[in-house]
Amino acid sequence: MMLGEESTSADYWKQCGDEALANGIKGVIMMGAHWDARGDMIEVAMNPAPGKSPVAYVHPSKYVDYKLVADLEGGEKCQALLRDNGFNVKENKTFEWIHDTYLILIRMFPGGCPPTTIVSMNARFDPHFHMRVGSALRPLRHERYLIIGTGGAVHNLYRNVWAPMLKYRDNFAQETAPEGWALEFRQSVEDVMTQNRGPALRRGITRLMKHPQYRDAHATDDHFMSACFVAGAAGDWEDEQQEKGRLGAETWELTNMCNSQFTLGSWAGGQAVSAAA
Ligand SMILES: [Fe+2]
Repeated sequence: MMLGEESTSADYWKQCGDEALANGIKGVIMMGAHWDARGDMIEVAMNPAPGKSPVAYVHPSKYVDYKLVADLEGGEKCQALLRDNGFNVKENKTFEWIHDTYLILIRMFPGGCPPTTIVSMNARFDPHFHMRVGSALRPLRHERYLIIGTGGAVHNLYRNVWAPMLKYRDNFAQETAPEGWALEFRQSVEDVMTQNRGPALRRGITRLMKHPQYRDAHATDDHFMSACFVAGAAGDWEDEQQEKGRLGAETWELTNMCNSQFTLGSWAGGQAVSAAA
């Protein structure tokens, strides 16, 4: 919903996209929140001409004409790195991309989709497993791939206030302030992201699933896995002395759902970037 509408977060993604293009990225590697593989598998999207699965509450005109560009070379690299790191990885030649990834690509790169690889989650939703997926793909940052995780800081569809959306199609109504549990967990996500780098970031993000308000903030685990993935991609010892994560923008919707946009790393000195929503 949010990325179908105008928002400061959407503006921020555009700015991130512009910077990525100005710094000559070779491709994008993304983990979203809507595609998970069964058993102990991880899948890599290898459909050469991916379609788009439709998204509720967003007018099709906002996405149907945007051409997605699958990065098959990048996909091979991801598979090889994952396999070398002990993952049971499989290519998927029929996967249709989902709004969690393509709406962000449209916002970031309105002039055209860069070569992009989508990596699945695993349906057991183990934070450490997803952190290690990010860690395995981390070397690609040095080859000028931009790594993105897209989920949500607070994302519990059962505790959202849906009435303004259903009556007026207004996801940003915010008739009341967010509830305490949502504010509390959102603050903890910001604290971990902006106060830690290196392995401390990995420990902090994975530990958030034990936070007293975690289950209120995430009724299901799917929208938290990409944060673990990003922590792996940006949480090596080599990253420890780098600048802490930055909260670049934030958008609440449906009263209790918080979309916080973080960037880890910078382009200065040729450092690659990882970002999480
Ligand atoms: Fe989602």
